[in-house]
Amino acid sequence: MSTTSRPHPTAGVETAEASVSKDSLTITDNRNGKSYEIAIQEGTIKAVDLRQIKLGADDFGLMTYDPGFMNTASCKSRITFIDGDKGILNYRGYPIEELAEKSTYLETAYLLIHGELPTEQQLAAWTESIKQHTFVHENVKELTGGFRYDAHPMGMLSSTISALSTFYPDAKRVRDLELRRKHVYRLIAKIPTLAAFAYRHLMGMPYVYPDSELSYCGNFLQMMYKGSELRFKVNPVLEKALEVLFILHADHEQNCSTSVMRNIGSSEADPYVAAAGAIAALYGPLHGGANEAVLRMLKEIGSKDKVAPFIKDVKESGGDVRLMGFGHRVYKNYDPRAKIIKKMADQVFEVTGRNPMLDIALELERIALSDDYFVKRKLYPNVDFYSGLIYQAMKFPVDLFPVLFAIPRMSGWLAQWQEMIDDKDQKIARPRQIYLGHDRREYLPIAKRG
Ligand code: CMC
Repeated sequence: MSTTSRPHPTAGVETAEASVSKDSLTITDNRNGKSYEIAIQEGTIKAVDLRQIKLGADDFGLMTYDPGFMNTASCKSRITFIDGDKGILNYRGYPIEELAEKSTYLETAYLLIHGELPTEQQLAAWTESIKQHTFVHENVKELTGGFRYDAHPMGMLSSTISALSTFYPDAKRVRDLELRRKHVYRLIAKIPTLAAFAYRHLMGMPYVYPDSELSYCGNFLQMMYKGSELRFKVNPVLEKALEVLFILHADHEQNCSTSVMRNIGSSEADPYVAAAGAIAALYGPLHGGANEAVLRMLKEIGSKDKVAPFIKDVKESGGDVRLMGFGHRVYKNYDPRAKIIKKMADQVFEVTGRNPMLDIALELERIALSDDYFVKRKLYPNVDFYSGLIYQAMKFPVDLFPVLFAIPRMSGWLAQWQEMIDDKDQKIARPRQIYLGHDRREYLPIAKRG
């Protein structure tokens, strides 16, 4: 199969079917009647192949216009597969349902980064390497202490992750495999510590250092909640619930924050600053900040009987008021992660007590799923719709919800970043634009303007 496109040999003439490759697209430019044969590979055409379609030597050639990347593949990836219509999500070929049931977060992180499930020895070595890197430099504590008492923890997390770049200047050598491995350990290991420090700062509580005797999630819970007791007792149901939530959030192919990670990384900036940018992208309410927004929305609705008028507001707002935790760019079916979380909620509520806002959420889901507005647009609950209810029942403050998304997403970001660095097709990310501004103008001295 040809990998490049070329002007069709019979340009402007009826095409003889036999001479045209089946894996191609014949485009006729109706401005001048010329035809072009563009290769189709893996269900895509290369946008640069359109550049040959031009009217003259001065013409730049055709581009595609695709705000928000609605229909543009920016990379080839072997990490995560989503079928949005069927509601399928696989990491490296393994269905999310199976990983959530049988795996642990660290094993899943290994799978994402390395491409294969680890053997027993590999998992032990991987876990040990992560545990060795959970501490942060003492100066980072001072940095955390410099934030206001009411700082949002996502802003704090993005800043402290970015600050790590200054502690590890060798992280700039992104093509050095040995170094890269170390920074992957560090980022996965340190993000729970930084998140817990942010929380303890906001609570005015002393920081708790990592405990390597505990699991990844157990250690995070003790850094968050340990009081004066000698040894923090991790509740196994809550620890398991957090493992599952972390597995579900670990990767989601080319979403907004992952694209940011790849874009920043494409300039060969180090992974700490790239991850800080990814955290910033995740913070937005349309992305990872949605779990926080869902809880605020449920609180605002207040009771089950107010659900119907709220849905009416959403429908009449013309897109200004959104039902947070609903809808997805890729899923046009129930988000498989939301299904797992909804099922798990009961187990958590048995330990923590039922979250009273669950009734409002269930009523919202019931009405929305039978309402024409949502049905027509294929708007279903996404991962953020129920996760916040569990986090809240586990006593995490609402501000911290997006942080709980960022901690496990670090492994996905790093897997995608590594894949991008090693991909020979990749270049510095640099989109084109359609310029609609002024033509060249003369600069006027200030006295002559207006
Ligand atoms: N509530 C009400 N209407 C909605 C919603 C919603 N949550 N989501 C989409 N729509 C409507 C939208 O107004 C538009 O209607 P119309 O065709 O009449 O203009 C139509 O559905 C398509 O929406 P869109 O904004 O073009 O879709 P998108 O693919 O650009 O946006 C989204 C996807 C997730 C940003 C959007 O569905 C949304 O804002 N959802 C609420 C925020 C949310 O829950 N985000 C978490 C996503 S899952 C976690 C993650 O991975 O980030």
